[in-house]
Amino acid sequence: MYHEFDLDDIDTKAKPPVEEPDRQYYFIAKCREWVRAFKQRYGRLPESYVLNMGCQMNARDSEKLTAILEQAGFLQAKTEEADFVIYNTCTVRENANNKVYGHLGLLNAYKKKNPHMKIALCGCMMQEPTAVSTIKHRYSFVDLVFGTHNIYKFAELLDSSLHSDTMVVDVWEDTDRIVEELPAKRKYRFKSGVNIMFGCNNFCSYCIVPYVRGRERSRKPEEILKEIRFLAADGVKEVMLLGQNVNSYGKNLTDPLTFAQLLEKVEQIDGIERIRFMTSHPKDLSDDLIEAMRRSKKICNHLHLPLQSGSSRILNLMNRRYDKEHYLNLVDRIRKAVPDLAITTDIIVGFPGETEEDFLETMDVVKKVRFDSAFTFLYSKRTGTPAASMDEQIPEHIAKERFDRLLREVQAIAAQKADCLTGRTLPVLAEEINRQDASLLTGRLTNNSVVHFAGTKEMIGTIQQVYLKESRGFYYIGSLQ
Ligand code: SAH
Ligand code: SF4
Ligand code: F3S
Repeated sequence: MYHEFDLDDIDTKAKPPVEEPDRQYYFIAKCREWVRAFKQRYGRLPESYVLNMGCQMNARDSEKLTAILEQAGFLQAKTEEADFVIYNTCTVRENANNKVYGHLGLLNAYKKKNPHMKIALCGCMMQEPTAVSTIKHRYSFVDLVFGTHNIYKFAELLDSSLHSDTMVVDVWEDTDRIVEELPAKRKYRFKSGVNIMFGCNNFCSYCIVPYVRGRERSRKPEEILKEIRFLAADGVKEVMLLGQNVNSYGKNLTDPLTFAQLLEKVEQIDGIERIRFMTSHPKDLSDDLIEAMRRSKKICNHLHLPLQSGSSRILNLMNRRYDKEHYLNLVDRIRKAVPDLAITTDIIVGFPGETEEDFLETMDVVKKVRFDSAFTFLYSKRTGTPAASMDEQIPEHIAKERFDRLLREVQAIAAQKADCLTGRTLPVLAEEINRQDASLLTGRLTNNSVVHFAGTKEMIGTIQQVYLKESRGFYYIGSLQ
């Protein structure tokens, strides 16, 4: 926590402060009183469980929820059979929503065994009025529902929910607010996500994110740098700068600053050895950013550059605002400037109106670019987005057949590319003990490839020079140099 605050100094009998984040620290102190009372009554501390169901941005939000629960005094449960369970939901594709409803059935069974259990739902899916209405009517055992815009109020909402017998629902339509200096509990000691912006203004025609995350807002550079300096002092070596479109960072600041300029400032922070970022939109990737990547000693050799489709006609219908040629040309320029760069992507198959010819254009880009890996998705219709009401929705069996063909191609190329670094000695950030073999450590190259090598647990969180002996498709086997 980089906010100097002693919870014991907070007078919980006084009125809650109006200013943030002070108000939330006041409510954390109030929740602590509830936890103490729980302990007196049941002779144990309450346990909480946070399930992150979404992207890196959701994962970072979950770290903030976890920190608040921990500061309030909750222990972390290993399973969902806990006293307080919160799901941080995603709604980018329909199956994300189905997963939430499936899990809720299980939680209901746990709640029947443990009636004082509290169940909370937050995140992107809660910004959809139909989802909230379904939960109110069909899942009335849920205790707390809030969305993405007021997640900074979690301590306050938790306090209300702990003292209420009915469902607390607080979902805001939008916000232009950014509350700084709330606590976060990192999953890894040595690496951390850092939000640099929130929301999205792009309105790709298939995508629900702008509706559930609101308009694009950049954090002030001084707040971002302050957080990263704090993280570096706390042992973090690698930061992942997060935003839906990091390349448009800074445009709405009072003193505009480009993403490339922000990266140069992050580069100067001592202790930070690796810088990653996610996600880059091809339409906004500037020459300055390519130059910053070329010059930098810390920016990792990995660029996630979502393609979505290789057909210029479909890209236009998707409102992506670039075409096939622009994408291919961009990849050429970046590869010339940054050798050994791993490029990964996202591709959607079966967008409305996609013909076999359009699909072959996607296959063509895949063969030309030779992605190191690609996340492939079947188009999912999201109510309220322009694509949902487009004619010519693609029948599932056709989309599925294309998806399988694409996946085979993507995997074959990824496997061929996987061993391109065999025989070299490269820096690896040791991340954890190997899950199958405790004598091995698992770490990552700067291009994000996984490496397993013999090492000791003291090395976790340090960067080691590792000889890459052999590639096994999706990972390398290496040895310390
Ligand atoms: N902001 C990021 C993407 C966030 S969503 C970007 O613009 O690249 C992550 C991925 O989910 C997208 O890149 C897209 O490939 C996929 N996706 C988004 N909406 C989808 C939908 N309706 N159906 C299928 N995949 C979708
Ligand atoms: Fe969705 Fe497009 Fe925004 Fe990415 S850039 S979050 S795909 S609208
Ligand atoms: Fe999902 Fe929300 Fe991220 S919809 S992909 S969790 S921004």
